[in-house]
Amino acid sequence: MKFFIDTADIAEIKDLASTGMVDGVTTNPSLAAASGKSFLDLIAEICDVVDGPVSAEVTGTDFDTMMKEAAVLRKIAPNVTIKVPLIPDGLKCCKALSDDGVMVNVTLCFSATQALLAAKAGATFISPFVGRLDDIGTDGMSLIDDICDIYANYDFDTEVLVASIRHPMHILEAARMGAHVATMPPKTLRQLYKHPLTDKGLQSFMDDWAKSGQTILGG
Ligand code: G3P
Repeated sequence: MKFFIDTADIAEIKDLASTGMVDGVTTNPSLAAASGKSFLDLIAEICDVVDGPVSAEVTGTDFDTMMKEAAVLRKIAPNVTIKVPLIPDGLKCCKALSDDGVMVNVTLCFSATQALLAAKAGATFISPFVGRLDDIGTDGMSLIDDICDIYANYDFDTEVLVASIRHPMHILEAARMGAHVATMPPKTLRQLYKHPLTDKGLQSFMDDWAKSGQTILGG
């Protein structure tokens, strides 16, 4: 399973990239706006740090504007993935870009039939938003289960990129279902390392070792 981080915070991206756990980055207009940086500079900076796919979202909502924006964004670096909304013109754009060999992430997916459309349009990634479905009292993860089943039935190449992740259980369930990618906030990636018994066990090993008076490096 690939791990992407869902952030426009360069310091966080650098820090987490150094762990070797980051396979890509996703951004959206809200995250980009909150960074306070020029969008094109921000994407270029992220692509300098991470070799894997870096999603940069178009902000037009008609085919011509989205294609023009995509032309600007794809020039930034070869690992830029054009992110388009799941609307008719977005999927038209997805088909045109993927036919031209460009990676496309179709975002704002909330149903399995939307995901089917994105796969037919040649999307590299489909981004179902699990947390936002949970937020309105439905089960976000059952959408992932449905999409994984449907894509397997037809052997689609589109990868399921679980988005709007709120906590490690979303990642555990997504991995069980065989989703290809999870994009998560930096905080959630850090949470994956944590277990109280790991901390407790390490403390006890260190205390016992200190009593021995030995050091490995000291011979
Ligand atoms: O970037 C898309 C998605 O991950 C947004 O998540 O937390 O704003 O629902 P959230």
